[in-house]
Amino acid sequence: MLNSSRIDVSAPLRELAALRRLPVGTCVDMAALAGDPEYAAVLAREFDMVVAENAFKPHSVWMGPREYDFSQTNRLAEFASRHHMTLRGHTLLWHQSVPKWLRTAPVAQIPGLVREYIHAIVGRYRGVITVWDVVNEALTDGEASGMRTESFWYKTLGPDYVRLAFTWAHEADPDVRLFYNDYEAEDMGAKSNAVFGLVKELKSLGVPIHGVGLQAHLINGWRASEDNRTNVRRIAGLGLEWQVTEADIRMQLEGNPPSDEQVEVQAAGYRDLMELCLTEPGCTGFVTWGFSDAHSWIPGFRKGWGAALPFDIHFRPKPAYLALSDALRGC
Ligand code: XIL
Repeated sequence: MLNSSRIDVSAPLRELAALRRLPVGTCVDMAALAGDPEYAAVLAREFDMVVAENAFKPHSVWMGPREYDFSQTNRLAEFASRHHMTLRGHTLLWHQSVPKWLRTAPVAQIPGLVREYIHAIVGRYRGVITVWDVVNEALTDGEASGMRTESFWYKTLGPDYVRLAFTWAHEADPDVRLFYNDYEAEDMGAKSNAVFGLVKELKSLGVPIHGVGLQAHLINGWRASEDNRTNVRRIAGLGLEWQVTEADIRMQLEGNPPSDEQVEVQAAGYRDLMELCLTEPGCTGFVTWGFSDAHSWIPGFRKGWGAALPFDIHFRPKPAYLALSDALRGC
């Protein structure tokens, strides 16, 4: 298995990244943070930016009209502040996070309620959250990528809802940077063309949008290509930032531990992704969707797949960790 003794963790990622002026972050599972001291210790040691895996999503916070539960979001904000980390907000509108009670609210009231909600949460974390994923995954997959017309937000707020959400978020905090976030938009293709088209249109309408989040849920064997470079360059060419927002590189395990070869292949992918961010214009953050294979959404969502993160299930750094570290050191 892995020889983790050769891996130098004396310089945590956050220190190396600070030298490159790149925030390096991860998503946080609030139950693991509360229940596992080792999880909290590695998190605080390695990262200087955090995003909630679920705690900031509407279904976690928005309990009813003008009724919010900020207990978990406050806990994460306190943790971030105690450890001198910045906080990413994820996310304001996502078709997979619609509070149950809202589905039965009178449609005519929904725009007003959503505006109030966005004002409440963005306003509450004004000056604390530096970047918000305002709208998440508004676009469909496949060759005909376009707006998800089945989304609750599309149906109740109308085809213009992305613009509305950005406008409302900006009203609540004129200084916070506002992002559109999506998956499988790293490459050149129908989906990334749709993302580019959407953000370009928003920009041209004068909508307050500052960046694009590229989730980067990748499959082992992924390597950066010229297409990835072309894609991020065209985003930067609009005057927008971009961030890697949810990186993980999953591998097929079928119940077995990962092989040495698999973890080495994965390391090359992580290295490429970090180098893309370090060498191309406009990248202002690198975030993984978790850090330890002990706490990852992959096994639960993709049967037979896993080991997608830079630390193993025992919080030992994997070759992927070393690859990120090397990329940050420039060696
Ligand atoms: C996932 C979480 O990791 C899971 O715990 C949850 O059950 C579902 O959402 N794209 C996103 C993230 O933008 O919010 C998703 O997070 C993963 C895919």
